[in-house]
Amino acid sequence: MERTLCLIKPDAVQRGLMGAVVSRVERKGLQIVGLRMLKASRELAAIHYAEHQGKAFYPKLIDYITSGPIVALCVQGHRAVSVLRAIVGKTDPAEAVSGTIRGDFGMCKGRNVIHASDSVDAAKREIELYFGQDELIDFDWTIYEWVYRED
Ligand code: RTP
Ligand code: MG
Repeated sequence: MERTLCLIKPDAVQRGLMGAVVSRVERKGLQIVGLRMLKASRELAAIHYAEHQGKAFYPKLIDYITSGPIVALCVQGHRAVSVLRAIVGKTDPAEAVSGTIRGDFGMCKGRNVIHASDSVDAAKREIELYFGQDELIDFDWTIYEWVYRED
């Protein structure tokens, strides 16, 4: 089992897309084990997006992610990191395939609706940024056997 971090970005919150995004994650068969609404500080945003420091888009990215409330989700499942990235779609929503979250809900990179961790190591680091241990719930997921079949 893997866990990954998903953020519903400020544009999606403002546009009333929280429910639609959460629904896509649930419908795929991913288990939500943590969910929290917050307004990210510039300090938190800088730690989260440290890998992009120095790039041309970095200042705008920090402005964007701190511009309003966001929703953090900790999502669990087999291969959850790559599965979530697949349903999120390409970074630029204008190029993202229809059927993906960015492909269906966005128009440009600077307003791309959602974040998903890009590796297992990044996911671990990012989950710890947004959630305390007591905010993640390890509950018995009663539909598990209807989502997965061990072959
Ligand atoms: P994310 O980290 O938010 O899930 O997005 P990602 O992996 O698909 O893309 P990444 O390269 O990590 O970029 C982080 C976020 O920075 C903004 N961005 N703007 N204007 C630009 O050229 C540009 N490039 C990236 C996007 O909001 C992107 O999600
Ligand atoms: Mg990224």
